[in-house]
Amino acid sequence: MMVVLLGPPGAGKGTHADALRDRFGIPHVSTGNMLRAAIEEGTPAGRKAKLLVERGDLVPDELMAEMVQDRLGAQDAAGGFILDGYPRNVDQARDLDRILAMRGGCLDRVLSLSVDDEEIVRRLSGRRTCESCGAPYHVVSAPPAAEGRCDRCGGVLAQRADDRPEVIARRLAVYRAQTEPLVAFYRGRGVLAEVDATGALDDVRRRVVGAVR
Ligand code: AP5
Repeated sequence: MMVVLLGPPGAGKGTHADALRDRFGIPHVSTGNMLRAAIEEGTPAGRKAKLLVERGDLVPDELMAEMVQDRLGAQDAAGGFILDGYPRNVDQARDLDRILAMRGGCLDRVLSLSVDDEEIVRRLSGRRTCESCGAPYHVVSAPPAAEGRCDRCGGVLAQRADDRPEVIARRLAVYRAQTEPLVAFYRGRGVLAEVDATGALDDVRRRVVGAVR
């Protein structure tokens, strides 16, 4: 099963990709998490990406294609994956076609999660992320059992550098201009499922799982 999750910042892509991973036993591949790990480790890719990520701009397509091709070539992705944060523009969608064609496949499903801008700001300003495993939390709607600690691995929960108000606005503008056109792109291919991602987490999770089935 090869699935892409599309949606604006804070739509719940990471949250629901984790749920799909647990449900279907295929890896959650998040380009945002991969970039943050590369930045943290100070790799050459991380050094190129750092400023762009911090100000909410897209990292160059060639760097992303290389990163995604490597990750999807790993053994654990042989039976499928949930791709979160890639592709982010039409050129990246074509790069993904090429990467998948090399393994003799194509996307089964693209889920487009929709949420209005006011809710996005509320979600991102309250978001906390595990510094060790990347699991997402929210101080109000999805708090951890022990304050400041990840339920899954016990890691420290922190606020992301790009969740500051001015960067949230930039990320939203980039999404509308560059990524949203992919909704029509994949609708035209007959693989798109549109999911209302507002409301209680459990309700949205049910919609997301239903759309993948
Ligand atoms: P990335 O990490 O992919 O960020 P994003 O797309 O902006 O998405 P987020 O991670 O902010 O949100 P999400 O949709 O995963 O929501 P979440 O589940 O956390 O990318 C970061 C940066 O890396 C980009 O800006 C760019 O610079 C670069 N980058 C990444 N990929 C790239 C690419 N392909 N090309 C070029 N550059 C790239 O949920 C958010 C919060 O809301 C959480 O606290 C959660 O608990 C809460 N929540 C979720 N659902 C609900 C609900 N139903 N009710 C209440 N709260 C909810």
